[in-house]
Amino acid sequence: MRYAVGALVMPVSRIVRADPAANEPGLVELGIEAGESRVDGDSWAGWLYTYNSQLPGPVLEARSGDTVRIRLLNRLGEATNLHFHGLHVPPTGAADNGFLMVPPGEVSNYEFRIPANHPAGTFWYHPHVHESTARQVSRGLAGAILIRGDLDAVPAVAGAPEYILVLQDLDLDSRGYPREPNMMERVTGREGNLVTLSGTFNPTIAIAAGGWVRLRLINASASRFYRLKVEEHAMAQIASDGGPLPSPQYLDELLLAPGERAEVMVEGTRTPGAYRVLNLPYNRGGMGMMGAFRGTEVLASLVYDGNADRRIALPERLFPFDALPQPSRRRSFVLGQGMGMGMGMMGGTNFSINGRTYNPNRVDTQARLGDVEEWEFVNPSMMDHPMHIHTNSFQVIDASGGVQTAWKDVALVRAGSRVRVRMKFSDYAGRTFYHCHILDHEDLGMMGILEIQG
Ligand code: C2O
Ligand code: CU
Ligand code: CU
Repeated sequence: MRYAVGALVMPVSRIVRADPAANEPGLVELGIEAGESRVDGDSWAGWLYTYNSQLPGPVLEARSGDTVRIRLLNRLGEATNLHFHGLHVPPTGAADNGFLMVPPGEVSNYEFRIPANHPAGTFWYHPHVHESTARQVSRGLAGAILIRGDLDAVPAVAGAPEYILVLQDLDLDSRGYPREPNMMERVTGREGNLVTLSGTFNPTIAIAAGGWVRLRLINASASRFYRLKVEEHAMAQIASDGGPLPSPQYLDELLLAPGERAEVMVEGTRTPGAYRVLNLPYNRGGMGMMGAFRGTEVLASLVYDGNADRRIALPERLFPFDALPQPSRRRSFVLGQGMGMGMGMMGGTNFSINGRTYNPNRVDTQARLGDVEEWEFVNPSMMDHPMHIHTNSFQVIDASGGVQTAWKDVALVRAGSRVRVRMKFSDYAGRTFYHCHILDHEDLGMMGILEIQG
């Protein structure tokens, strides 16, 4: 299925907006039903995996300090579960427990508390079932999590219309049925032929001349990278994966690897009209196979509508950023394709970390609660691997040994390069995961278990 560029312009109301639920103070309750449904978009239709029959799933909105209760009913024909990507909550019990599986027809009740000092920001939930994660997510299972806090009170931010843009690429045949990728496509990382933003193809984002919009971007695609650009407009990035940046970063383009999030402010400073939001070409490796040399795509249109009553400046400083102290331990993780040596350039169809493919019964890394560690991901392969760590966000060390001033939970380790990240194992003991967020790579074994010992 191919779509003409700009063939249809959808009204803004189609974008999923946060809907403050009628909950008791301090408690957020949500019922989620995972199932298969036919979803009718405005210009497309497909048979998808859905949460509450919608694409994407309902927005989960909470404040730091809130208790979150989710009742997950599995109406799929296969096991599923929920992972709360980026949240600093326990990886155990009824919380963010990736070992917990919900068989078909069964219910699981999740409950956890967002710590009082949890950063505000944009997070997301999706299933985490080894060997099925890519299929379940690429068929539609994803939803936004918004943690409200200090960032939401910054005047230019508070006054701006907010758009939650869950970036999903669906792979549908001409009758709207999901297509299963072949092994080559899984090795490269599957990409779909229909890109939707919160369920809408080429939505319109309305902006007032002289005003701001706030875009919450979530890359919920299994493998697709987004190199985003708004024609003739700079993006002021105010938050990354793990919450607010210390100051707005003005960017012409923004690369979002699978799993990553960014919050950007765009100001209506140009001649009123329509401007395209583009996904520029990006080569993530994979030897020229699908996705690697894709052309520019149009994702959305920024359309001027009315005038802002007054201009509100974005502050030069947002919130203080504390660099983590020197690590007490350093480790190295070599990302590989194929087990053992001598697999050659094609590398086989297994993916590994330090020569081992994922085994749910093996702890790969043991760390101590309260410790600061520095991990180096080494990628000698010909494909990019966006590496993700659960439970604790990290800081990326730059080439000169300094710390990049952003909290992240996905670090893009480009083909042939290495990346160091520093994190502190705070608050929660238990077993948790680290893996490549190209979800086919995770399913094919590029995942390890970290045990944090209390
Ligand atoms: Cu978003 Cu372990 O994943
Ligand atoms: Cu995660
Ligand atoms: Cu990978």
